[in-house]
Amino acid sequence: MVSKKVQSIKPSGVRAIFDMAQEDSINLGLGELDFRPPREVTEACKKALDSDSYRYGPTMGIPALREKIANKISRFNKDIKTSNVMITSSGTQAAMATFQTLFQEGDEVLVPDPGFVVYAPECTLCGADPVPYTMDDELNIDLEKIKEGITKKTKGIVVNSPANPCGSVLTEEAFKTICDLAEDYNLWIISDEVYENFIYEGKHYSFNEYLDRSVVLNSFSKSFAVAGWRVGYLSAPDSIISEISKMQYHILACPPSPFQYALNDAFDCQEDFINEIFPILKKRRDLTTDLLNEIHGFSCIKPRGAFYAFPSYDIDIPSADLAVKLAHQGVLCSPGTAFGDAGEKHLRISYAASEDNIEKGIEIIKNFVENF
Ligand SMILES: Cc1ncc(COP(=O)(O)O)c(C=O)c1O
Repeated sequence: MVSKKVQSIKPSGVRAIFDMAQEDSINLGLGELDFRPPREVTEACKKALDSDSYRYGPTMGIPALREKIANKISRFNKDIKTSNVMITSSGTQAAMATFQTLFQEGDEVLVPDPGFVVYAPECTLCGADPVPYTMDDELNIDLEKIKEGITKKTKGIVVNSPANPCGSVLTEEAFKTICDLAEDYNLWIISDEVYENFIYEGKHYSFNEYLDRSVVLNSFSKSFAVAGWRVGYLSAPDSIISEISKMQYHILACPPSPFQYALNDAFDCQEDFINEIFPILKKRRDLTTDLLNEIHGFSCIKPRGAFYAFPSYDIDIPSADLAVKLAHQGVLCSPGTAFGDAGEKHLRISYAASEDNIEKGIEIIKNFVENF
C-alpha cells in the first residue's frame, strides 16, 4: 500500500487533459509559452554542456547565478544578499522544499481557490491542512475571505500574483493588508511570483519587499521560456534559507548544473526577450477575451496578468466533463476544478498560443457550447 498522504492527493487535472492530446489537437491547456527561448540561452547551454558542468554542483545553486538574481531582486529590498537566494529545480520544487520546511501536522495554510494546482496537495504532503480562500467577483483576492480563514492553527498564506488561473494582479492595498495580517498573526507568506514579468495593467508588488516573513518563489520556465530545463529559484530570510536548503538536498542534492551555467551566461538578455514577447501576449489576451465573450453564456473578465483567461459558463455540465468533451472535439483547455472547487463552471484558456490557434480553438468551444 502507498502512504495515506499520497493516497489523499489527486493527479493534476491539467495533466489529465494534456495526456489526451492528439497530434492535431489545439493546445490552449498548458501554461507553457509557445516561443523558443532566446538564441543566447540555447547557445550558452551548448557551451555549458561542453564544459565540466556534468558534475554535481552546490546544493543552493551556482554562486554566480545566485548573485545575479540577488542583484536583480534587490530593487525590491536593498538588504537582500546572495545568501538569501537559492536556485531550485523549478518553481514547483521550490514550493515543495519550502512547504516541507515550514509546515507540518496540525498547521493550517491558506491557499487560493481557484489557485495553482500544487499548493493544496503540497500542504497535504506535509501533513498540514490547506484552507482555501476564494476570490471576489472580479477574480481578485478577497481579503475578507483571507481574514475569515485565519485561526489559531494558521501558519502560512500562499499568494500568487499575477495569478494562475485567474489572471488577477495584487493591488497595493491587498499587498499591504496581507503583510499586516502576517505580522499580526505571525504567519509565513509564500509568494509565488513566477508571472512577475507578465503584467498588462497594474504593477508588481513583490513580497521580497517584506522578506522577514516571506519566501518568494520564482522560475525561469516562464521568464525565459525554458520550462523543460526545470530551473527556478527562491528568496528567503537568513533565519530559514539554510533549513530550506537542507530540504532541497534531500529532494535533489543540487539543481541541474548545465542549465544554471547557461542561464547565468545569458542572464542579461532576459529583459529584451520579455520586451519582445510582451506585446504579442497582450494582443493575444485581448483577442482571447473578446472571442470568449462572444460565446453565448460565457463571461470572461479581462485578465491583468499571466497568460490565462478564466471564463465562466452557464451550460449544465461540470468543468471536468466539459474539458474532456472539448478535448475530443480537438481543443485542449483546463477544467476550472483542476484549480479548486471554486473553479467549477469555469475553463482555463491559456493564450500562450498563436493567434491562429486561439481563433480556431475558441471557435471549436463556441460551436460545442452553443449546440450543447
Ligand atoms: C503559478 C505557478 N507557479 C509555479 C509554476 C511552476 O513553474 P515551474 O515548475 O515550471 O517552474 C507554475 C506553472 O505553471 C505556475 O503557474
